[in-house]
Amino acid sequence: MASTLPRCILLWIFLVCCFPPKHAVVTDEKSILLEFKAHLKDPTNHLSSWVDANSACEFSGVSCDPDTGRVTGILFDNALLGGEISPSLCRMQGLTSLVLTSNSISGNIPPELSQCSSLKVLNLSMNRMVGRIPDLSGLRNLEVLDLSSNFFTGEFPTWIGNLTGLAYLGLANNMFAEDRIPESLGYLKNLTWLFLANSKRVGEIPESLYGLKELSTFDLSRNKITGMLSKSISEMRKLIKIELFENNLTGKIPPELANLTLLQEFDISANHFYGELPPEIGNLKSLTVFQLYDNDFTGELPPGFGDLQHLQGFSIYRNNFSGEFPANFGRFSPLTSIDISENKFTGPFPSYLCESRGLKFLLALGNEFSGEFPTSYADCKTLLRLRVNQNRLSGQLPDGIWAMPNVDIIDFSNNDFAGEISPAIAKSATLSQLTLENNRFSGLLPPELGKLTQLERLYLSNNSFSGGIPPELGALKQLSSLQLQRNMLHGSIPSELGQCTRLADMNLAGNFLSGNIPGALAQMISLNSLNLSNNRLTGPIPRSLGKLKLSLIDLSKNQLSGIVPSDLLQIGNEDSFLGNKGLCTDKNMKTYVNYGLEVCNGEQMQRAGLSTEILVTCVLLSVLVVALLGLLLVNYRHYRVSHSCSEDDLEERGEKDLKWKIESFHHLEFDVDEICNLEEENLIGSGGTGKVYRLDLRKNGGTVAVKQLWKGAGFRVLSAEMNILGKIRHRNILKLYACLLRGGMGFLVFEYMSKGNLLQALQREVKGGQPELDWYKRFKIALGVAKGLAYLHHDCSTPIIHRDIKSTNILLDEDYEPKIADFGVAKATDDSPEGSECSCFAGTHGYIAPELAYTRKVTEKSDVYSFGVVLLELLTGRSPVEEQYGEGRDIVYWVLSCLNNQKGEINVLDGRVLSPVVKDDMMKVLKIATLCTTKLPSLRPTMRDVVKMLVDADPCTFRPRHEYSEKTEKVLL
Ligand SMILES: *[C@@H]1O[C@H](CO)[C@@H](O)[C@H](O)[C@H]1NC(C)=O
Ligand SMILES: *[C@@H]1O[C@H](CO)[C@@H](O)[C@H](O)[C@H]1NC(C)=O
Ligand SMILES: *[C@@H]1O[C@H](CO)[C@@H](O)[C@H](O)[C@H]1NC(C)=O
Repeated sequence: MASTLPRCILLWIFLVCCFPPKHAVVTDEKSILLEFKAHLKDPTNHLSSWVDANSACEFSGVSCDPDTGRVTGILFDNALLGGEISPSLCRMQGLTSLVLTSNSISGNIPPELSQCSSLKVLNLSMNRMVGRIPDLSGLRNLEVLDLSSNFFTGEFPTWIGNLTGLAYLGLANNMFAEDRIPESLGYLKNLTWLFLANSKRVGEIPESLYGLKELSTFDLSRNKITGMLSKSISEMRKLIKIELFENNLTGKIPPELANLTLLQEFDISANHFYGELPPEIGNLKSLTVFQLYDNDFTGELPPGFGDLQHLQGFSIYRNNFSGEFPANFGRFSPLTSIDISENKFTGPFPSYLCESRGLKFLLALGNEFSGEFPTSYADCKTLLRLRVNQNRLSGQLPDGIWAMPNVDIIDFSNNDFAGEISPAIAKSATLSQLTLENNRFSGLLPPELGKLTQLERLYLSNNSFSGGIPPELGALKQLSSLQLQRNMLHGSIPSELGQCTRLADMNLAGNFLSGNIPGALAQMISLNSLNLSNNRLTGPIPRSLGKLKLSLIDLSKNQLSGIVPSDLLQIGNEDSFLGNKGLCTDKNMKTYVNYGLEVCNGEQMQRAGLSTEILVTCVLLSVLVVALLGLLLVNYRHYRVSHSCSEDDLEERGEKDLKWKIESFHHLEFDVDEICNLEEENLIGSGGTGKVYRLDLRKNGGTVAVKQLWKGAGFRVLSAEMNILGKIRHRNILKLYACLLRGGMGFLVFEYMSKGNLLQALQREVKGGQPELDWYKRFKIALGVAKGLAYLHHDCSTPIIHRDIKSTNILLDEDYEPKIADFGVAKATDDSPEGSECSCFAGTHGYIAPELAYTRKVTEKSDVYSFGVVLLELLTGRSPVEEQYGEGRDIVYWVLSCLNNQKGEINVLDGRVLSPVVKDDMMKVLKIATLCTTKLPSLRPTMRDVVKMLVDADPCTFRPRHEYSEKTEKVLL
């Protein structure tokens, strides 16, 4: 007995140690996981299955070894998880893979993570982690280490050289202390993917890196790397992708580069490389993307480029290439984008760039191409941008060139083209900018221009267009700039132009226009600059023009007569009214401004006064009549289809009435039973007012979003959204197709936004760790939201205050066009004298204007504040409220204190999108954001001002900046 007992115990110990009961390990691992969960924030309940009642292997995102039942992996990608990583995680010794990409996890990497000795995959990229990266060189089994796109600081990890099993290494987009790339990375002989973009690296590329013979992706872009590209690069025979753009590299391209026969993507843009391209690199047959814009290259392109068969993107703008362009270029390639602008190419324009019929961007501005523009492009219907500004091209353009069903910009300006604008231009229905200035175009302006409803800029100046200005241009509701100066246009200014209510800049100078200035021009409420000089205009200046908020007016050199309205005198300058013999000024005004105008005599005063008054009265009367008719019509229709949808009805009759009530606001074909048979797997969101589902319609194949309102509580929301959204039509406001009601159930059918909300988009990254939203996309979103809000505030018959502007209420469509959504708490301002005094609290923490702490009086200016916060999110990539700002502090406070501390504005801007190219534009937007978030509401700009200021900061206004955007998209691929 005495001897058997200890033996039993020994045996027992042995058994427990070496064959632990599955059960015991599993409960222990469960408690470790539950502790891991306790450290996280999970706003969208991705961890709802992580409860004691389930086994660890039943937890979502957890994988286990089927034999031992031990946890081997944790995977959460883009699950909106916040909080921190629990230090105890590595007590699970079987863990081989920890992947928490694209979340909002903050805090440090716990040093204890180095005890996860089985770990093979550690991917924490795209989070908000801070601090130094602890020494993880103990993770000897690591094959994948990606910590890109966080906020790590401190020393760049040099111990990485000890992790010799690494195949993937990403440390890009962090804020390490500036230093060289460690020589020791050369030990990572198994490395295939190296991603160190935007990680504050300086100095030369260590020679040791060229010994990484397995490397296929080599990305050191957006650092400050100096020196030359060594010919040793040709030893990395497996390279597929070289990204060295935005550094400080110099020297010539080594001819040995041509040995990299697998090379597909090559980008050394925005450096200081010079010299000619070695002809050998024309033999890089696998090239798909070749970019070296913004360097100092000279000479001709290698003729071999004409034979490439896989080339999709080619961008070499802003160099000094010369000679003829390889004639066959594009002939055998699936080109989608080419930018050869700002070089010195001569000879005929290449003919085959669109041979594969997939070209979207054709940019060849600022060269010396001559001769006719090849007719082959008339069949290039995929083009989004066609710009050959500033060459020596001549001749007439075939009809097909004007008919581009997808085009955004057509720019033939500053050449020697002749002939007419074809009426086929009506087919370019998506055109936003038509730029033909400084050519010899002639003939009539086709009325079909009025069909281009997306047109924003129409630049036709300095040609020989004749005939009248087509009244159809009044249909261009998006037009913001109209430049027809220096042509031979006749006839009167059509009063229909007054309907272009977004027009900010109108220049009709230097034509033969006659007749009166139409008073209707005063309807162009956005007009900022008006130039009608050098025409044959007669009659008085409509007094109503004085109401416009112009900053420039030029009516000089016409035959105008009568008194100059005093408002206009104040806007104008010495030259504004010159050369109109009949114009005169009020005696009283003469003492303030003396523009060489005579003082009016009594008769002139009366005549002028009378005629403008009559005009104003007529306009007012007709507007009134139209408005009344409109009201009647709307009311009638509203009554006809919808009386069952009004709020009172809903609550009284809703419960018992089992017939569907439908109100539709846009034409859309769907079956009622489709809408009410929503499937849980299509759930795309859930919020305060209801659940949102994606629904693919049976009839026309379209997709919509359906919001099912929470029972009962939803009716106020329903009627708010219906009343506001149902009536609004604006590109940047979410379209409400219909509302459906039965019993206690309510459904709203919206347009479907495939890119989700702005918050999600800001957190997403694409392959390679770049944020999905680069600055160009972010700017587009900022401007779109501003336009939508400006519309709500200034262009609706009753101004509407949204009251809950935030990044989750801004939805993005396929093209990142933003739409303002969720009008559940929005308010029209005039329902009662104290209409904007609101009893119910609205808004979201972090976005609420400070004045709402002491007053319930909501004004447009509180929306402006919230919009400013959204701008800050776009600029900084941060959330409105983060622990890092300090107790009770928000992003507005944080940004201001950074700016005041002389820490430099640059530290505020999102390092992942900041580059020298966009820095100035981002700084402009930062100024606007600080204006919008000013404490005193009265000092904040109006949304209309904001739109104007943003347009000034548009990185896409001037060539060639905007072409970077296409480039950036490429980098993201
Ligand atoms: C890393 O490698 C170096 C030599 O290559 C060695 O001196 C050092 O001790 C190693 N560090 C660790 C933590 O193993
Ligand atoms: C490198 O990869 C090879 C082949 O996959 C493998 O056999 C070797 O062990 C790896 N080297 C290291 C240091 O892990
Ligand atoms: C780029 O490198 C040159 C030397 O090659 C140096 O003089 C210059 O300051 C560097 N520029 C930047 C921005 O680092």
